[in-house]
Amino acid sequence: MESSIKVRTVRPEDVARIKELVELSWKDQGASHLLEKRFGMQGGKPWLEWKWPEVEQACRERPRQVLVTEVEGKVVGFASYRLDPVRKVGTVGNNAVDPEYRGRGLGKRQLAHVLQIFREEQMDFAEVTVALNEGHTAAKAMYEKSGFETVVDSRYMFLQLK
Ligand SMILES: CC(C)(COP(=O)(O)OP(=O)(O)OC[C@H]1O[C@@H](n2cnc3c(N)ncnc32)[C@H](O)[C@@H]1OP(=O)(O)O)[C@@H](O)C(=O)NCCC(=O)NCCS
Repeated sequence: MESSIKVRTVRPEDVARIKELVELSWKDQGASHLLEKRFGMQGGKPWLEWKWPEVEQACRERPRQVLVTEVEGKVVGFASYRLDPVRKVGTVGNNAVDPEYRGRGLGKRQLAHVLQIFREEQMDFAEVTVALNEGHTAAKAMYEKSGFETVVDSRYMFLQLK
């Protein structure tokens, strides 16, 4: 498999596939879907319509800051990021690997590409925020195995008003 793996910047034709990856990856684990399951739809729209625009906007407005991982020509993962040249901090954004391709080192490799870009862009630090629910166990492990240290554990809370 090794020789057929490629990490590159996103292209417009990847966007539909990335939307599939977002749906597969945040279903049952991301805050937007968990909120919908517990409290019902927000603003009359299904959870993916709230989650997807974050990623779609990155692909459209700053495509250089969205990477995809291809295996044998198929897009199986993506990772977005931001750069703050004043603080010199790179922020790792949404990233995921197709469930069928997980556990093979692709997520960590994709993240390593993002961190390499941070270094090339003269960032001094990298930051990421990860939820601590069970669905994010792999993500938390990936960040820890890549050298990230926990600074603050925060909690996302919600209150039904009606
Ligand atoms: C997080 C995610 C991208 C990891 O992708 P992946 O390709 O399966 O990860 P890797 O195979 O590169 O594993 C990275 C490390 O995490 C560890 N890991 C992976 N899954 C794990 C799990 N379920 N439990 C514990 N450790 C795990 C691996 O052992 C590996 O450590 P190693 O380098 O010491 O072997 C993938 O699980 C995913 O898409 N999750 C859903 C979306 C998500 O949570 N994104 C992050 C949002 S903050």
